[in-house]
Amino acid sequence: MRLAAAADLHVKKTSQGALQPLLAPVNDHADVLLLCGDLTDYGLREEAVILAKELNAAVRIPVVAVLGNHDFESGQQEEVCRILTDAGVRVLDGEAYEIGGVGIAGAKGFCGGFGRATLGAWGEQATKRYVQEAIDEALKLEGALARLRTRRRIALLHYAPIRGTVEGEPLDIFPYLGTSRLEEPLNRHPVDVVFHGHAHHGAPEGKTSTGTPVYNVAMPLLLQKYPDRPPFRVVELPEAPPSETEAALLNARQTAGSKRPPIVEKPGGTSESH
Ligand SMILES: [Fe+2]
Ligand SMILES: [Fe+2]
Repeated sequence: MRLAAAADLHVKKTSQGALQPLLAPVNDHADVLLLCGDLTDYGLREEAVILAKELNAAVRIPVVAVLGNHDFESGQQEEVCRILTDAGVRVLDGEAYEIGGVGIAGAKGFCGGFGRATLGAWGEQATKRYVQEAIDEALKLEGALARLRTRRRIALLHYAPIRGTVEGEPLDIFPYLGTSRLEEPLNRHPVDVVFHGHAHHGAPEGKTSTGTPVYNVAMPLLLQKYPDRPPFRVVELPEAPPSETEAALLNARQTAGSKRPPIVEKPGGTSESH
């Protein structure tokens, strides 16, 4: 299964025709397109309509998405979601979805900082409400991850779950780019790979503390880092390894082992390895 991922399309009222040439190559490079939020610039229904038209014109593979903070800006996020859903996009908000044997857990996430600098729910009610939003989003992600039954599993977020993929942004804004609260469920319910956006000037790759690859697929970042390639990242998930029971049976027959094959990732949608 080849996954193409991108984020931060920021489609505007004037974007008609602009996205098609960027996204059209995805059909040749992937089996599913994953969009990690900030799909629109101001979260307007008119922007969502333009995005839906662009996707319908350019993309022939299934599209799975989460929304980002910009998609909430105008309070029209439910309509944005409906317009995209009507266009065939599967929009996840704490849900689990399976496609081609790969389970996808998706949530927007929230911010609040990383590691020992993570904001705590202490003091003013406003601070507690802010932190509660991050906790609620982490619980959404955890609920979705817990429902996945496939051997191959991935997570889609808008906000970063680790500090590593926001490195490169100004240090002052790190707490607004994501939170370690999103990493905790990923460590409890391991996935093969995590995609997120939001940090337009962050780092394209990182790892969770348990070693899971995390890709920041913000389009401005991919365009800047890989200017000669289409602005999406392709990751190929090999066929899942056998379950423990199957592996035990196989071992008993002295046939194949149960070692997990490595993930093959290809920045920028080209078919060669990097
Ligand atoms: Fe963005
Ligand atoms: Fe964002």
